[in-house]
Amino acid sequence: MINDWPFDTRSSEQLWLESGGGSHKVFREEVVFSVQVVFFKLLMLVMKVVLKFIPDARPTVFSGEGSAVKLAQTIGHFGHKKVLVVTDAMLVKLGVIDPVIEGLKARGIEPVIYDGIQPDPTFSVVEEGLKRLRSEGCDSVLAIGGGSSMDAAKVMALAASNQRPPQDFEGKFVAKKPALPLFAIPTTAGTGSEVTAAAVISDTEENAKKLVMDPKIVPLAAALDPTLMAGLPPQITAATGMDALTHAIEAYISRLATDETDAYARAATRMIINNLETAYEDGGNMAAREAMALGSFYAGMAFTRAFVGYVHAIAHQFGGLYHTPHGLANAVVLPHVLEYSKDHINSRLADLALECELGQPGESESQLAQKFIDKVWAMNQAMGIPRTLDALKREDIPTITKAALFEAHFTYPVPKYMDKQQCQTLLNNLLTA
Ligand SMILES: NC(=O)c1ccc[n+]([C@@H]2O[C@H](COP(=O)([O-])OP(=O)(O)OC[C@H]3O[C@@H](n4cnc5c(N)ncnc54)[C@H](O)[C@@H]3O)[C@@H](O)[C@H]2O)c1
Ligand SMILES: [Fe+2]
Repeated sequence: MINDWPFDTRSSEQLWLESGGGSHKVFREEVVFSVQVVFFKLLMLVMKVVLKFIPDARPTVFSGEGSAVKLAQTIGHFGHKKVLVVTDAMLVKLGVIDPVIEGLKARGIEPVIYDGIQPDPTFSVVEEGLKRLRSEGCDSVLAIGGGSSMDAAKVMALAASNQRPPQDFEGKFVAKKPALPLFAIPTTAGTGSEVTAAAVISDTEENAKKLVMDPKIVPLAAALDPTLMAGLPPQITAATGMDALTHAIEAYISRLATDETDAYARAATRMIINNLETAYEDGGNMAAREAMALGSFYAGMAFTRAFVGYVHAIAHQFGGLYHTPHGLANAVVLPHVLEYSKDHINSRLADLALECELGQPGESESQLAQKFIDKVWAMNQAMGIPRTLDALKREDIPTITKAALFEAHFTYPVPKYMDKQQCQTLLNNLLTA
């Protein structure tokens, strides 16, 4: 190895920083960041006001074993005759959708099955389903599957009624007309998409995930049926369950949290923390599956109103760039972001620790908060979720930082703002090698 000493290998920028010139630069960057934070906080205040005028859409909910078939009957009550069933080939193969298809037929409703959904659906998958919907003349849409099927179905239903290409709906509140009547049966307990005003569609050209946000895509009715989740493999159970936990926590620590979202977020956190590991170890445990289905739904109720935060902003970049499954990406990032934010959210995390009986009321807020974060680390470890992300490449960190901070600061009411350097440090901690 060549030893460069005594030559000075420091860059001119480093030399300038070390000679004291850098203190002006650091000061300038701190001032710029403080001004930006004021702007982002104002933006969130505007969002809070705007949200008061957005119609509050909620699905009718059926829950418990057999509720999926009851939902099929409901589609009949609405008078629909031909429904596009949006699902994936694996669920068809496993026979998960069979009881619902029989239920629809028994009501005289013709199901048209579109099973082309892949994890992280793309706009072209949405277009394909839309073509089928139009050529068959379907009058309604039923999603049976995880977030991927539900999100794709939401955008199909919106594009069909508005007669515009699916790409046009990226962004917030873009659609003019309501979506085609939409129903949802989740088969993972994770995304809460059955209740949210959001859909995430992957853009293959930009390697990015695009968000469609509109109350018009909240389903009319949803069924939380644990029997459809019994065969969900342990790894997917773990990852999707941690996605639901992330929704509950990010909604609870959000600047837009309200008494209502707090109630849902607390209940969701308790139900998920108390049941996820059981569902992971014993997939046939119907009580744990039912609690997870409800917990994930409550988490959806909370975050569709209070939004998510840095965990999702970073996880979406991993999904777009590396196709990391959404739940896994969130699970890996969640404890890192909580460690970063804890000084600003001690009291909120302490509430959650007490809610989950992880500590005693007499303990300090910071002790309780740390117990809560430690529980998240422990759950990940027990379910084989790593502390770092193998796919993450050091050279991608600047791009990921830029995109994650842009997504977070212009969309999410995060409790403690992160600058570029802090985000890069956090991402460095996620590197495996
Ligand atoms: N709309 C929202 O509010 C929202 C929120 C969070 C995430 N998302 C999006 O949802 C998508 C992820 O959804 P997901 O995590 O539910 O996973 P998914 O829908 O992509 O499904 C993951 C895998 O699980 C399989 N699977 C699903 N249910 C099964 C069952 N019961 N038995 C056996 N296998 C089953 C599927 O075939 C698939 O291979 C991502 O695109 C993400 O960005 C949306
Ligand atoms: Fe999520």
